[in-house]
Amino acid sequence: MIRRLTVEDAEQHLNLMLALDEQTGTMLYEPGERSDDAGQHAKRLAAALNSTLFIWVWEENGTLTGHVTVIPGQLKRTSHKASIVIGLLPSHQNKGLGSRLMDTAIHFCRERSFKRLELTVMTHNEAAVSLYKKKRFLIEGTIRASLTADGEPVDEYIMGRLL
Ligand SMILES: CC(C)(COP(=O)(O)OP(=O)(O)OC[C@H]1O[C@@H](n2cnc3c(N)ncnc32)[C@H](O)[C@@H]1OP(=O)(O)O)[C@@H](O)C(=O)NCCC(=O)NCCS
Repeated sequence: MIRRLTVEDAEQHLNLMLALDEQTGTMLYEPGERSDDAGQHAKRLAAALNSTLFIWVWEENGTLTGHVTVIPGQLKRTSHKASIVIGLLPSHQNKGLGSRLMDTAIHFCRERSFKRLELTVMTHNEAAVSLYKKKRFLIEGTIRASLTADGEPVDEYIMGRLL
């Protein structure tokens, strides 16, 4: 089921993020790069949750296996928009869960009267680009050599959707 993350989930959330770093090669952190300090993570989450971060998770048999995170702009000139980050463990990909999590985030953003959603995605991440296009995001440009992976430059698309 999809449900909103709470502060009580901090340890499980950290485990999910560490597993995503390990098992997917298409998110921001390299394996082993994220701090595994559960206390720090809980503190940061407590400060941010439901103000600067809104998170929904896919929970199955008591385990978190995916998330979608909405990060609203914090300034007057950016408060009309939000960034979206999504990730599912490989065991839970290609089952329509990404689509459902995106719908949850988009619905929330519409209710909150955000006018624009945006995200970045590695250009070779075909599954993600396909999902975002399906959710009516457009490719607005290519950020060349935006990231490096194994010492090689990786381009990203900036994608956006107006609500
Ligand atoms: C990207 C991601 C969130 C997609 O979630 P998902 O649950 O696997 O996607 P869904 O099952 O909802 O399918 C989304 C669509 O993409 C399509 N798709 C899946 N893999 C694809 C591929 N390699 N190429 C093209 N389309 C693909 C699916 O067919 C589906 O379209 P359809 O409904 O018309 O059949 C998920 O794969 C993931 O978490 N990947 C690892 C982390 C990541 O890359 N996150 C995004 C960083 S920007």
